[in-house]
Amino acid sequence: MKTIGIIGFGNINQEVVRQAVASKKIEIKWILDRSPSKKAKKEVRKEIEQSLGKKLRFVKSKEKLHPETDKVDVIVEATGAIDAIEYLRYKRNELKWGNEVLFVTANKAMVANHLPEFFGSNNNDVRIEAAVAAGLPLIKSLSEHIASDEVQGMVGILNGTTNFMLDEMEKSIYDSRNQTYDMVLDESVQRGYAEPGGAGDVDGQDAAYKLQILSRIAFRTDASPSADLIRGIDDNKNFDRVRSVDFIYANKYLESTIKLVAIAQTSSKVEPFFLVYPMLVPDYSNIANIEGPDNYIGIYSKYLVYTDMQGKGAGPEPTACAMLADVFSHKNCADNSDEKQLITAFRNSDEIYFSRWMVRGSCYDRPGVLAHIFQHFETKGINIDEVFQLQIGEIGRKWTAEELDFGNEQDKILPFAFTTTKASLGTLQEALSTLPLDKKNAKGQKIFPNTKKLFAFYPVLERKLDAGGLQKFVIEEE
Ligand SMILES: NC(=O)c1ccc[n+]([C@@H]2O[C@H](COP(=O)([O-])OP(=O)(O)OC[C@H]3O[C@@H](n4cnc5c(N)ncnc54)[C@H](OP(=O)(O)O)[C@@H]3O)[C@@H](O)[C@H]2O)c1
Repeated sequence: MKTIGIIGFGNINQEVVRQAVASKKIEIKWILDRSPSKKAKKEVRKEIEQSLGKKLRFVKSKEKLHPETDKVDVIVEATGAIDAIEYLRYKRNELKWGNEVLFVTANKAMVANHLPEFFGSNNNDVRIEAAVAAGLPLIKSLSEHIASDEVQGMVGILNGTTNFMLDEMEKSIYDSRNQTYDMVLDESVQRGYAEPGGAGDVDGQDAAYKLQILSRIAFRTDASPSADLIRGIDDNKNFDRVRSVDFIYANKYLESTIKLVAIAQTSSKVEPFFLVYPMLVPDYSNIANIEGPDNYIGIYSKYLVYTDMQGKGAGPEPTACAMLADVFSHKNCADNSDEKQLITAFRNSDEIYFSRWMVRGSCYDRPGVLAHIFQHFETKGINIDEVFQLQIGEIGRKWTAEELDFGNEQDKILPFAFTTTKASLGTLQEALSTLPLDKKNAKGQKIFPNTKKLFAFYPVLERKLDAGGLQKFVIEEE
């Protein structure tokens, strides 16, 4: 059993402890927190101890840790304090636990303020994946990216709270809810995205810490951005906060929306560029379409050209999950067991349902075709939804020589399409492959040309709301 020590027992590490207990692969040896007796913490502690079936050991200071009996494989830190760097130093110097004991952190403020202690030759005993964009594997991707490529720039939405606020303000203009800045801030506090008042998020500092860490990896710079390069959606400085009316101007006259954008870029001639600012972004861009509390990053590089990633950038569950992934990256903790196969087989085609399909076929321009197909589909239990038929000459472009599948008969052939309601892949495949193609119509005319490959079919991939209110591409269960 691998062992971990926890520093800070707040939102994030409470979830780390829950997930570690549920995994049954990790032993929690101690939890260091400056105020473990707070009521809310005691309640969570009780709940976890009940599911674990034994007591957890809490200590209030690092001096209580014993160099031998308290030694663990990994320390997991999530305090939010910049001076929590003292714990990393204590592990390295006083306890002499060195590189053998991994230090995993989600604390972007601490990392950004002490970059040299986390990068360069000093980074063998630290993992910081959860410090930027929580569950998104951004740090790993970017680190691997630059191993063989040259990152030229990064543009992203790195603060989910403010993205949620801007998104809500904009949407509510058009659905008449007219949510003001204060209203959306209250809502993001209620949903647990922001601290009361939104400190750290709304002034742009949180996004700036994350961009600073990414810039360290991409451009190998320990430089700190000056304060005037960081502006949030309400920075309490000289400028007004973002207001609903700004969206109306941006939308109506500039086909744009407003996002808190973090952007950093290199150039061979001048210093790297770093900016966290509310910006107008064109409606058609990826970044304009990042909704709710999601995070997004696009990376421009010399060889891969453009890579982007989007997903849950905050919240205890994805953050804790990323931290535990860092824990398992430690050589002593890697889970190399292959005794348990998580997936033993893939779902077969009769069990893969889509709520809509489009079928495209080719036939002679003669009566009776659709009736024949639809009757056949009826016997297979498939309902037809809509039919689309272009007339000869309406195809929109001339056939090319390669497309003249039907040779001399090409001009007699009509493509047509129809949609079906819910059906399984297996049923649809079977219906099309058993359709009699030698059928004649009431006038005794053939309705299909003498070739077998007359149909193509496509599932309509639709985004639906899942039980948690998330828009997802989902495949129907039945
Ligand atoms: N929330 C997210 O979605 C998210 C996502 C990614 C990363 N993170 C990062 O994760 C870290 C923790 O966030 P959180 O939401 O869990 O914060 P939190 O709920 O405030 O928890 C922090 C805990 O650490 C304790 N603490 C603070 N300073 C300490 C110190 N010097 N020594 C020992 N204990 C100390 C706090 O005690 P008190 O109760 O006395 O203050 C509290 O129990 C932050 O760095 C944050 O930026 C958060």
